[in-house]
Parts: sequence; C-alpha cells; structure tokens
Amino acid sequence: MISNPLRDPRDRRLPRVPEACALVVFGVTGDLSRKKLIPAIYDLANRGLLPPGFCLLGYARRDWGGDGDFEQLARSCAQAHARTPFREDVWRRLAETIIFLPGSFDDDEGFDTLAQTLLDLESTHGIPGNAAFYLSIPPAAFPAVLKQIERTGMASGKGGGWRRVVVEKPFGHDLQSAVELNALVDSVFSADAVYRIDHYLGKETVQNLMALRFANTLFEPIWNSRYVDSVQITMAEDVGIGTRAGFYDKTGAARDVLQNHLLQLLAMAAMEEPVSFDAESIRVEKVKILGALSLPPDSKRYAIRGQYEQGWLAGERVRGYRDEEGIPKSSKTETYAAVRLGVETRRWAGVPFYLRTGKRLPRRTTEVAVIFKKAPHLPFAETDTAELGHNQLVVRVQPDEGVTMRFGSKVPGTAMEVRDVSMDFLYGESFTESSPEAYERLILDVLIGDATLFPRNKEIEYSWRIIDRLEEFWSGRKPYPYRAGDWGPAEAEQMLARDGRLWRRP
Ligand code: BG6
Repeated sequence: MISNPLRDPRDRRLPRVPEACALVVFGVTGDLSRKKLIPAIYDLANRGLLPPGFCLLGYARRDWGGDGDFEQLARSCAQAHARTPFREDVWRRLAETIIFLPGSFDDDEGFDTLAQTLLDLESTHGIPGNAAFYLSIPPAAFPAVLKQIERTGMASGKGGGWRRVVVEKPFGHDLQSAVELNALVDSVFSADAVYRIDHYLGKETVQNLMALRFANTLFEPIWNSRYVDSVQITMAEDVGIGTRAGFYDKTGAARDVLQNHLLQLLAMAAMEEPVSFDAESIRVEKVKILGALSLPPDSKRYAIRGQYEQGWLAGERVRGYRDEEGIPKSSKTETYAAVRLGVETRRWAGVPFYLRTGKRLPRRTTEVAVIFKKAPHLPFAETDTAELGHNQLVVRVQPDEGVTMRFGSKVPGTAMEVRDVSMDFLYGESFTESSPEAYERLILDVLIGDATLFPRNKEIEYSWRIIDRLEEFWSGRKPYPYRAGDWGPAEAEQMLARDGRLWRRP
C-alpha cells in the first residue's frame, strides 16, 4: 500500500495507516499472540492498513528453529483465527516481514541481538527507528523485559523514531502492585508512550456507547438520576476456564474482568461528555467516574461471589470448577462476581450500578442496560398496565451487536392495554462492513499513536481501589456455589430482590 502525501492523518473518514514501523511481540508463541495478535496483524495486512515498511519481530523463549518454523506457526494462527478470509498473496507479503528471535527474558545476548536488529531495520526494511514493544507475557516477566529494554537503550529510537510499549492485563493484582508496575513502566518509557490494553475498549459496540450518548440529542437529557432507576452491566460467558487453570485460580473473576472490562464499561456509560474526542479528554472524564465509585456500607449483602459446580450447558454435562484440571479441590477462587456500586456525582447520586460476570453461565453475552424509572403517573386502569415494566435501553456489546429499546405499547384490541415491546438496532443489518476485532483496532491505534482507547494509570489505580476492598471482604470466605448453566448463585438474585429489582435475562 502506498501512502498518500495529501492525506491528512487526522481525517478519520479515510483509512488510517501508520508510518513505517516495527512491532516487537514478546511472548509471540503464547496463547494471546496465537489467537488474537497474529490473526489481528494478518487482518490489518489484508485490509491494507499496515505501512509498506512494516516488520513483525517475534521474541519468545521457545526455540522454533528459525524463521521458517515460526512462519508456519503464524500462518496456521492466521488461518484458524483471522476475521477476514485467508489470502495466500497477503500472507506471503506479511511473512516476508516476520523475524523470529528466540531468547529468554533474562538473556542479555537475545536482547542485544534484538536491539541490533531494530537498528538494522533502517537499511533492511526502510524503518527509521519506529517500534512498538508488545508485552504479551506473564506479569512476573514484565520487570525483566523492561529492564532489558532499558539496558539496551531500546526505549528511545535513534534519529527521532518513536518507541511505544503495550502492556497487557493484568495490570498488577492489587492497588499496591499496580502502582509499582506503573512506576516501573514509567521509569523506562515516557507516559505518552505507554499503551495499556483493555481489549473491551477496542470493541465497536463499546465505542458506540459514546456515539449513542454524545452524537444524539435523544438520550443525554434522560441519562441521569432523575430518570434512570439503575444500570446493569453484564459480562456472561458460557465457557469455563479452559487451559488457563494456573492463571485463573490465582486471579478469579473480580481481578480478571471486573477490575478492567466491567469498570471500563461503567466509566463509559457514566462519564460526562468529553470536551473533544481525543485521548486526554476522554481519559480525564473516565478518571472522574472511577474516582467517584463507592461500595455500599453493607458490602456483605452487595458483593456476591460464586463458583460453578457441575451442570449442563447446551446439552452437555460440564464439570465443576474444582474438578477442572489443575485446580485444587480446596480452591476458593470465584468464577462469578456480582456487585452493587454507586457513582458519587450529582448526575448519578442514588443510582445503583449492578455489575456481574461469570463463567459457565447459560450463554455468552455482554451488555450495558440502562433501566429507567417508571412513568410518574399512568392514566390507565391498573389492570391494563399490569404487564408494563421499566423502559430500558440496552447496548448489546456482544454477540448480536446493537441496541435495544424497551418501552410500553398498546396491545391491539378494544381495551387500552399496554405491554412492553422492543425496538432493535442491529449492526449487522444497518452496515454492510463487519466490525473489526478489538485487537485489530487497538494494534492499529498503537502503531498510529492514538491513545484514546487505552486506560491511563490513574484509571487502573482507582479500579484496584474498589477491587481491593472487595477482595479484603471476601478473603477467607468460600464463594457461593452455582450450577454450571445457571445464571449464578441464588444470593446474587437476592441481592437485587432486596432492592426490589431483578437481573435482566439477556
Ligand atoms: C479476558 C479474560 O480479558 O477476556 C478472559 O481474561 C475472558 O477470562 C475474556 O474470557 C473475554 O473476552 P471476550 O472478548 O471473548 O469477551
């Protein structure tokens, strides 16, 4: 693809293509890289969004015996997991840019070779020092890799080339470790060179939350405690923990997804309008919301965690969490978490935000549901409105990406009976182009240098402040059991029932 010198890079209507650059992936043979990063890089290549001078440098412990074998691995990942169709010509061109460097994270020689390779890219690939380092590695390896990057001087590009670092979650396992990690990253890279990935922010529907709220007049006037009864944010998964026992059992649902994905969704749903749609303005607004989060004084009743037991899902018997391979029989790790939070601002005072997430729930679905108060007065006979619920606006993040509105409508007939109906917007029906995968969008943003969809360190620290309090309260207690295939433990239902509410059944 040849870049057009007349193109204004700020013009979002045109495809954005980065300058010539290298992407260095540490942990390139790991699970995330195989399933998400390599396929996303292929998709970008297929869409013509990678610059002519591009190089993918894979660094990983395992010795794959040279570029050839790694290319085979990368090819099969792209074939199996890419969103766009596999095209041999596109792959060949991308494969020519791949360099695999075997080495461990404390191996001086490996890092010296990497530094030299980056310098050589100017003459071999015409890349003038621009490089992004993607840390797709376990958090325990972050310090070693960052120190090596610093030691070899790779944190700054020679001759004015940019250098960026991409940090994958988990960003620490509590507030203290997150502060330490942030300090470590900031000691090697300048703050504007750090990209913390929360892949939920790369999902089109999450970005649509902002479009919905701030590009229309319809919703914002009623998006406050005067009209909103409560907000429910659900991230349900039907899958179990797969092959991630070691990671998951140390982590649990709250640290795995509540701290990041769900709190980011909450921040997007609750934030004030940013003065502009740039990274700084959006982050400033999200920080205000995350800093204003509160837990109810009676946390015991409003922070529920659960663990799945054996049950049935899609007609198949599935085993319980403690019977999963690699999980200790005595594990107290939660696979489900539900919590009620408040946002202490004028807009949201008194509105509960109910968040829940779980593995082995009946289906995979993520949504943000804004539940409105009932009309203050209904000029109909009571029986005619017996089946009228609350108006709801539901942003369906996945699957069936779109927006649903629920409101009362007259039932055909002679009586004035009113009942809830739904009005649906489906991405798939309104747009012909399918949505890019979150990682496609986010990797492209890193290479372009657009940090809008990446949380800043303060957001992460505020999120941990809440999670730390939950963990402190849960510590030593057993999670409530729930049957795989159910919507979580009964105690989570009671939590809402106590407030006179019900969880939505997506
Ligand atoms: C990850 C979590 O961040 O998100 C996983 O570590 C979870 O446990 C995954 O399964 C869900 O992502 P998605 O995009 O499939 O909803």
